[in-house]
Amino acid sequence: MTVASSAAETFRNAYGAEPTGLWAAPGRVNLIGEHTDYNDGFVLPFALPQHVVAAVAPADTPGWTVCSTFAPESVSFAATEPGGVEGWAGYVAGIVWALGDAGFTVPPARIAIASDVPLGSGLSSSAALESAVLTALVELGGMDLPVADRPALAQRAENVYVGAPTGILDQSASIRCVEGKALFLDCRSLEVEQIPFDLAAAGLAILIINSNAPHQHVDGEYGARRKSCEEAARILGVPALRDVTPADLDAALGKLDDDVMRRRVRHIVTEDQRVLDTVELLRAGRIREIGPLMTASHASMRDDFEITVGQVDVAVEAALAAGAYGARMTGGGFGGCVLALIDADRAAETTAAVERAYAERGFTAPTTWSATPGPGAARLS
Ligand code: GLA
Repeated sequence: MTVASSAAETFRNAYGAEPTGLWAAPGRVNLIGEHTDYNDGFVLPFALPQHVVAAVAPADTPGWTVCSTFAPESVSFAATEPGGVEGWAGYVAGIVWALGDAGFTVPPARIAIASDVPLGSGLSSSAALESAVLTALVELGGMDLPVADRPALAQRAENVYVGAPTGILDQSASIRCVEGKALFLDCRSLEVEQIPFDLAAAGLAILIINSNAPHQHVDGEYGARRKSCEEAARILGVPALRDVTPADLDAALGKLDDDVMRRRVRHIVTEDQRVLDTVELLRAGRIREIGPLMTASHASMRDDFEITVGQVDVAVEAALAAGAYGARMTGGGFGGCVLALIDADRAAETTAAVERAYAERGFTAPTTWSATPGPGAARLS
């Protein structure tokens, strides 16, 4: 059964009626540009073919009810304040709250959710949930909310309602990505450029390797990285680390006493430049050549930003040893997925190499698949 038909069936079983429509929003991988978003910098995600589907119909009684294929109980809520609904349904309630807080009248609704975005793997399953529900409610409510303004509203749901201090990468990817393209986003101006990313035409593939490593202390560590970057920007007297260029880097590092903070800054400044360099190469159709930038990004996340774990480092090393052009962890870190840029016919060998390396170390086996850039959030039917 497809995710869409599963959402529709869940809706029928729960509410004894047909949904008005089905809205889908994808998970994402970030090709390069990690933790740069909340530093006003650059990111380059693409949408995954995996998505969340929301089957939705307006309700004739006040309030919102949401059920899903992955939780036994439905959750109902009326007017809601930050933190009012917890767990997975909090992302839905957060969208209802953020729309209301922005001055929109949100129609009462019944919602059923299905998803094939792997949970807790750094592929933005929660942003996909937010984006699917947001896209549905905006359309059903006839709200005048331009697509370009939607990610910030969904980010507010996550930051203020759910209480996770994330940037704007995930919601932007889920809402603004386009099939076959990578999304070059300036996280300060929110301007985007759709960058051609035709892997198949170049005989290439992006292999996604889910490390299946358990996430530990993720929220605290993420928040600590963000705080360190903001503190560094304050000491350096710039609005955000985006404003430190590679040419300024040595002078900036000289003004910081703390070695950890110096390394955090070095990651952000060099990572922003790697995004710009990657975009240049992709604009010129030189996809293979982005490999070394991906690998350098991984080293920077491992050594300077310190957000990788053994499983992702081993996956990167094994993929490179098996001939990948480049490999890096994607997403917030502390587990999650690795992307490897490989020749399209090398997926099985690369997977086998990573599996062998995991088995030697006693790690839980990884899961792998090849991903092509899918479409952003949209109504399906
Ligand atoms: C998570 C956050 C994003 C971004 C990435 C790291 O996915 O939700 O805002 O900061 O980590 O690039």
